[in-house]
Parts: sequence; structure tokens; C-alpha cells
Amino acid sequence: MASITGLKSRIVFDSRGAKTIEIDVTTDKKFSGRACAPSGASVGKHEAQSFPRNSPEKALEVLKANEIRFIGLDAENQKEIFDALRSIDDTEMYSVIGGAVAYALSLASLDSASKALAMPMFMLLKPHKPYMFPFPLGNILGGGAHAGPGTPDIQEILACPIGARNISEALEMNFRVHKEVRSVIQAKDEDFTYGRGDEGGWAPNANNDQALEITELAVKNCGFTMGNDMSLGIDFASSSFWDEKTRVYNYKRQGITRGREKQICYVNQLIKNYKLIYVEDPVNEEDFEGTARITKDNTNCIVTGDDMLVTNTMRAKMAAQHNACSGAILKVNQAGSLYDAMNFAQECAANGIKLITSHRSGESIDSHLSHIGIATDSKMLKAGILGGERVAKLNELLRLTEYDLIDGMAELSSN
Ligand code: PGA
Ligand code: ZN
Repeated sequence: MASITGLKSRIVFDSRGAKTIEIDVTTDKKFSGRACAPSGASVGKHEAQSFPRNSPEKALEVLKANEIRFIGLDAENQKEIFDALRSIDDTEMYSVIGGAVAYALSLASLDSASKALAMPMFMLLKPHKPYMFPFPLGNILGGGAHAGPGTPDIQEILACPIGARNISEALEMNFRVHKEVRSVIQAKDEDFTYGRGDEGGWAPNANNDQALEITELAVKNCGFTMGNDMSLGIDFASSSFWDEKTRVYNYKRQGITRGREKQICYVNQLIKNYKLIYVEDPVNEEDFEGTARITKDNTNCIVTGDDMLVTNTMRAKMAAQHNACSGAILKVNQAGSLYDAMNFAQECAANGIKLITSHRSGESIDSHLSHIGIATDSKMLKAGILGGERVAKLNELLRLTEYDLIDGMAELSSN
């Protein structure tokens, strides 16, 4: 056992320059673990609240007043950490201490335990084989809440190098397509500034359909066969352009609206036209029935809930009841603590819902995400594409190839 002997917490800045919480946990007086909470721009309605009253300062204050509750706990035992957090805050959304503290404390504890026990984090979370690498879902081009005016309403166009035999090849393929997308945009728009969104995907002056055509052409130019070497996916993040009052999807940048039926038709059409193997939040976060229809009609596509499921076990149960999702995004900070998130992972696995472990658009240079992806048997890992905070996670996957225990790339088609 690695016993928590010290705790330090502070406010730092994330990759968007927003304040967040970083925590250091020491075990056995010498093993120091560290974690920094990420944050989202397209935030689900039912996510854990990052900070009490939107104040990182208040979160720190609550933590500092309760530090003693964590001293002496087993840093590896996430249930103990969770129970201590819940003894301070038993609200549904972590509105007393904040999800950022729950996140940073649980990850920093595990990081410290990993050092004390000389075991990689993924093995502490999942002690037995098989271990597989998730496919990196590269954010190639996008808009929405992650970029400015003129960019697509769709948040992310994603590349999945399905033909890659190993992680190194997979990352190289994604970077090649990303680079080629820039050349294709440039050839169409000589004023293109090389602007990128929060996660590194290009942010051109283009509508949704043009953006998909650009990406498809870039894949071809790289010599990759669509559906064989490379496949595409889309994160619509559609709740961010769903208007609850008028009940339409407002594609503001394209100057059009789509009602519910038209949106479902559009999504089905895009899946068919571009042979998409992945769509995320294609309809708004409360439309389980609409998601179920898309899931049923597209059995070769992983229809995934992010804002819809918010890494919440109850919402995963709801999705299973509706047969609403074949995939689920796992973002630990949406749930709060790692214990909450691992429960969600178990619920999804029990219902045959594939997991996709994901970063947030506001990130740190931590690389714990890659361990969580492996430990939860995730099929894919969303970690953006460029920028130190994105590459930190991708490079950790490369380091993990040094463990012979990991057997290769995940099976995308099996559960
Ligand atoms: P967020 O975006 O971190 O801004 O929520 C990521 C996503 O929607 O997948
Ligand atoms: Zn999303």
C-alpha cells in the first residue's frame, strides 16, 4: 500500500489560459504524483460542475479546509479517495468541492501510487491482461465551439487510421493527413492563415460539406484508401447548435436550420457518403430516441454519446435502455473522480457500449489519459492532434509500447 502523507494544491492555467486546479499528492513521504484538471468548451448539461460557484479559489479553499481527510488513505484505492471526497461533498454534480478537485486529487493519488509501487498507472487500474492500444482519433479539421467565425458548425472532423499495425504507424498516418489537409485548404483559399482550433485541427473558412470534401481529398492525396487504411468520424457536438426554444439545429455559419427529422437524415447521409465509422453527439443531448434511430440504421458506425452521457453511470443505463449508443465518450472530469468514471466504464462494458477515452479542449501536459484509455479497454483515444498538451498524450502511447504486456491495436469491431 502507498499511504498518502502530504497534499499540495494550487491554481494554474490550462491550454486556453483559463484557471484550473493542480494537485500534488505525496505517498510514503517521498513519492510525488501530480495531476491538473482539464476543462471543456462544449460542456454537457449534466456534467459535474468544475468549480463551486465558478470559482477555482473557492474550490481550493474547500480542499484546504479538508486536507486532513485524505492523509493516511491508500493512494491506489480509488474507492477510499471517492469516499473521502463524498464525505465533503455528496451533491450530484460535485457543486461543493468541484469536479476539478475530484479529478486532480484522484489522478494525482494514482500517479503517486504508481511511483511508490513501481507500476504503470494502467496496470493499477486494470491488473490483468489483455491490454490493447486504442486507435488515436485525430482532430483534423473543425469549428463549432473550438474555433471562430467562418469555420464549420460541426465541431470536429476526425481521422482514424484503421489500417495501422501499431501506434507509431497510427500517429504518423494521422499527422500526414493533418498536414495534407492544410495543403488542400491552401490550394482552395490563398488567404488561409493556418489557423487552428483548440485541439490543433485546422479551422478554415469553409462550411460543413466543404470541410468534409477537403478531408476526403487529403486522405486520397496521402495514398490512403478510405475504409481500408483510414476512416473518418465526426463530432457534431450538436447540443451546442440546438435551439431548445425553436427546436431546430441552427447551422448559423452556414445560414441554415434543420429540424429534428432533417438532422437525422443529414447525419445518416453523411455516414453513408463518407463511410463514417464514428459519429459523436449527432443529435442533442436529451434525444435518446433520435440517437437510437441513428444507431439502429448504422451498425458499422460507432454512434457515440459525449454530452449525452457525460461519463455518468445513470445516463449510460438510460442509453442502454433506449439502445441509444454503440459508443460512449469517457472524460473523467465530466464524472468528477476516477472512481465515478471507472464505474461508468463498467456499466458501458456490461451493455456492449464501446468506450472512447477523451481529453478536453482545455488541457494540461499530463499524459495520464493514455493509461486510462488502455485500462478501460477503450477502442479509441481522442487526444486532438497538435500542440504540446495533445502530443503529450500521444507520445505517452509510444512510451507504453516498451511494455511487452500490451498486445497490439484494439479490435474496433468487437465489444
Ligand atoms: P470539449 O470538447 O472538451 O470542449 O467539451 C471535446 C468534445 O466535445 O469532444
Ligand atoms: Zn464531443
